[in-house]
Amino acid sequence: MALRSSVDARVLIIGCGISGVGAAQKLIRQGFRNVRIIEATSRSGGRVKTGRLDGKIIEIGANWIHGPSQENPVFRLASQYQLLDEECMSEENQSVDIGGLPPLLSTWLSSSGKKLEAEVMAPAVEVFLSLLKKCQEFYTSSDAPMSSMGEFLEREALRISNEEWKEDETRKLRQALFSTLMKLECGVNGTHTMDDVDLGTFGMYKSLPGLDCTFPGGYDGLITHMMNELPKDIVLFNKPVKCIHWNNIHSQSSSKEGTCPVTVECINGEIFEADHVIVTIPLGYMKKHHDTLLNPPLPQHKMHSIQRLGFGTNNKIFLEFEQPFWDEECEVIFLVWEDEYDLQNHVSDMKTAWIRKMSGFTVLKPTERYGHILCGWIAGHESEYMETLPEEEVLHTVTRLLRRFTGNPTIAPKKLVRSQWFHDPYTCGSYSYVAKGCSGQDIDNLAEPLPLTGSEAEPLQVLFAGEATHKSFFSTVHGALLTGWREANRLISHYNPSPRKVTANL
Ligand SMILES: Cc1cc2nc3c(=O)[nH]c(=O)nc-3n(C[C@H](O)[C@H](O)[C@H](O)COP(=O)(O)OP(=O)(O)OC[C@H]3O[C@@H](n4cnc5c(N)ncnc54)[C@H](O)[C@@H]3O)c2cc1C
Ligand SMILES: *[C@@H]1O[C@H](CO)[C@@H](O)[C@H](O)[C@H]1NC(C)=O
Ligand SMILES: *[C@@H]1O[C@H](CO)[C@@H](O)[C@H](O)[C@H]1NC(C)=O
Repeated sequence: MALRSSVDARVLIIGCGISGVGAAQKLIRQGFRNVRIIEATSRSGGRVKTGRLDGKIIEIGANWIHGPSQENPVFRLASQYQLLDEECMSEENQSVDIGGLPPLLSTWLSSSGKKLEAEVMAPAVEVFLSLLKKCQEFYTSSDAPMSSMGEFLEREALRISNEEWKEDETRKLRQALFSTLMKLECGVNGTHTMDDVDLGTFGMYKSLPGLDCTFPGGYDGLITHMMNELPKDIVLFNKPVKCIHWNNIHSQSSSKEGTCPVTVECINGEIFEADHVIVTIPLGYMKKHHDTLLNPPLPQHKMHSIQRLGFGTNNKIFLEFEQPFWDEECEVIFLVWEDEYDLQNHVSDMKTAWIRKMSGFTVLKPTERYGHILCGWIAGHESEYMETLPEEEVLHTVTRLLRRFTGNPTIAPKKLVRSQWFHDPYTCGSYSYVAKGCSGQDIDNLAEPLPLTGSEAEPLQVLFAGEATHKSFFSTVHGALLTGWREANRLISHYNPSPRKVTANL
């Protein structure tokens, strides 16, 4: 049977986040003319979402380019589009290798309203960072002593603390700081508790060199520039997909001339026919809807991996102030609850204690650009609960928290904006992580196209991209972009099996 040419192949991409836009860009450049993107919401960008607070740019979703250096495709694109500061572009900063954690100037505030001495806190930070490094090494040595990150960090942190820090008060304070850093790490990994994060695969994630940087004009500038290279009406907005019928079992498709391997059914009843569908829907949504999203349903092993892999919540709470209460050079403010020295996951009353999960605030810099804005970080179930509260209540609770930790009863943020990723119906959380008991195989399963190899049916009907399908860069923008390119390339080589290209690379 002759292959339909790539020029005519009907490709539908579901989801207009960076992975979907990236896939479309690559296909169009290779001469595919029949490409459309179907998006549930009224906007492109997905988890790249730039907002405003009093006219100032804030990032509701992704904020940094993690590891901005030549190997990072987001960095390369952003440089081409001239969206970055000179500082970010400098050779020097591209080669800084900090292994993922930038050296920030921190302030530590305690629940009794005291500013804690940096010299007292520094040894605890050092121990925690060295433990994280150890966790990463278990991936290559494959001799993780237990299954979860949480168990390991807790045991080791307490052991070292008891061995090395004899003075009772200092020891307890440092242990309480461990609690804070654990909460921060929950946010980094997008999980409720580190007890759910797999210890043996922690090191599968790769960090690239380069000093993390931001987009002075907003992350969404990247999406806008990419979209400008696509045909005008390529995206169909406000069309949530309900079901992907593959293997040509949907009744309508068989009546038409020829065959149509896939039909995509939207919630509003509209139906689109395709030869190939690239699904870029977030893992959070897939977890909730996997039993109805495909017909016939997903093969067992793909289904299981969707259920097993982790997808948690990390939210931001932006606060704007008339005047800063922090020092000029301060970059991050950590909150240390003095009674949390036992390192237990506190399962106290959600209603009154959700705010305890907030690890701290980053200060938006430079001040000339942002004025005085803090970004608070909160992960897990407490973060999901926070999303359900009225904005005034969140503002009230955060204000009380700040007054307590600074000992200053007059502190009053004037405005608040927060993210609500868990209740976003088309994301259902923030990003993926490798949950306890999972491995890289689960990510491979997620990415495997349908039908499975060996099937007689039309090949490459449903392909899978998106952040959660990248083995070493999951949970990032560059990871998502690479998966979009990966699936586009899969189709490109399907139609151009020889190295000779049918259409010139524009
Ligand atoms: C709070 C937060 C902070 C982050 N910070 C960073 C950071 O600093 N640096 C970094 O590199 N990464 C960060 N990330 C992660 C990064 O944003 C994501 O990994 C990346 O944007 C995901 O892109 P994607 O294309 O895979 O998915 P998405 O951007 O989520 O795109 C998927 C699209 O599919 C659509 N969709 C869903 N369901 C349907 C349906 N049924 N029908 C049709 N369309 C549907 C959605 O509306 C969405 O537009 C952060 C994420 C969050 C939430
Ligand atoms: C590297 O980045 C830092 C922090 O943004 C900045 O202060 C510095 O000037 C940069 N270096 C160069 C050579 O641009
Ligand atoms: C958690 O985040 C850290 C730092 O980004 C990363 O090294 C690690 O691989 C992540 N682990 C999981 C399981 O997501």
